[in-house]
Amino acid sequence: MHLNQNYSLKKLNSFGIDVYSSFYSSFKNLIELTELIEYSKNNNLKTLIIGGGTNILFTKDFKGLVLKNELMEIDFIKEDEYFFYIKSSAGVVWHDLVLYCINNNYAGLENLSLIPGCVGAAPMQNIGAYGVELKDVFFELEALHIETQSIQKFALKDCEFGYRESVFKHKLKDQFIILNITLRFKKNISLNTSYGAIEQELLNMNCKDISIKNISQAVINIRTSKLPNPSVIGNAGSFFKNPIVDELIISNLKNNFTTIPIYPILNNKYKIAAGWLIEQCGWKGFRKNDAGCHNKQALVLVNYGNASGKEIFDLSTEITESVFTKFGIELEREVNII
Ligand code: EPU
Repeated sequence: MHLNQNYSLKKLNSFGIDVYSSFYSSFKNLIELTELIEYSKNNNLKTLIIGGGTNILFTKDFKGLVLKNELMEIDFIKEDEYFFYIKSSAGVVWHDLVLYCINNNYAGLENLSLIPGCVGAAPMQNIGAYGVELKDVFFELEALHIETQSIQKFALKDCEFGYRESVFKHKLKDQFIILNITLRFKKNISLNTSYGAIEQELLNMNCKDISIKNISQAVINIRTSKLPNPSVIGNAGSFFKNPIVDELIISNLKNNFTTIPIYPILNNKYKIAAGWLIEQCGWKGFRKNDAGCHNKQALVLVNYGNASGKEIFDLSTEITESVFTKFGIELEREVNII
């Protein structure tokens, strides 16, 4: 076990915030992980597990132990009449898993191409993009119970997945470390191009056929055209969730704001495009020092270089307040604030 002290986290969070943790280590296998957990318990240290650090905003130094997950295997598990089952360790880079599936002709992850971060973060918030969510291909996961050091299995229903939600963000918050996930892919392939921008991009690409590879490329093209690359401009993707509201609120809003983009979901609920709300309040392209609101996608806050986490956080508060003043809608942060 090797522990680093007073360790810079700048390269370990996609916002590129320059903060330090009292202790830092990575783990490549279960034995290393359990040793580190034991150490943190014995020394009463607060512990934070990170993967790609792509959904975190550090607002101050972390007084405790940061552990980077480097569990790195992808395995074919089995097949049955209807599905292929693939297991991936939590430390695998998400897009590497997507590429593995595309190269082996397993359909289901192509719409989730190029989402930054590691596999372990995917079930935490049921990642989603372009009409698909992790839950659509999820089979089960294994997680280490920190208190008892036992490994527990979670099936689909145990994870209580919702829009950017899971049981691990709520009832079981901070109790488990996700070790691996198993996904299952239909043998009878069905491709999802229903998200408007994909069909348009496939047309632009002049594709002869609609394949997993082409859909992945279309998604990559769309993402790179409007989302900032975290290795160039610090960011954590969508900073806020799209708010979900009921019919009454929507009809009032539609009276006052006729072009408001809304998407019906189940049970008379509607999702509102938070990027639109933020843009309408004049924030798109805003910059104060090095903290800003991206000029192509207002839902993404950015660090142009040396912004502090507090500056980004304060900007997010100003945005939330102005959206509430104009629309009466409370935005919820999607990014974990530490
Ligand atoms: N819009 C604006 N101005 C903006 C941005 C968006 O008016 O600056 C409006 C437009 O009407 C646009 C609509 O919002 O048509 C939807 O925008 P977009 O397709 O970019 O999707 P989103 O709802 O803003 C969500 C996810 C993204 C995901 C995309 C595509 C959330 C919080 N975000 O964004 O996920 O890539 O859909 O499926 O649900 C992430 O979680 O980090 C992320 C990037």
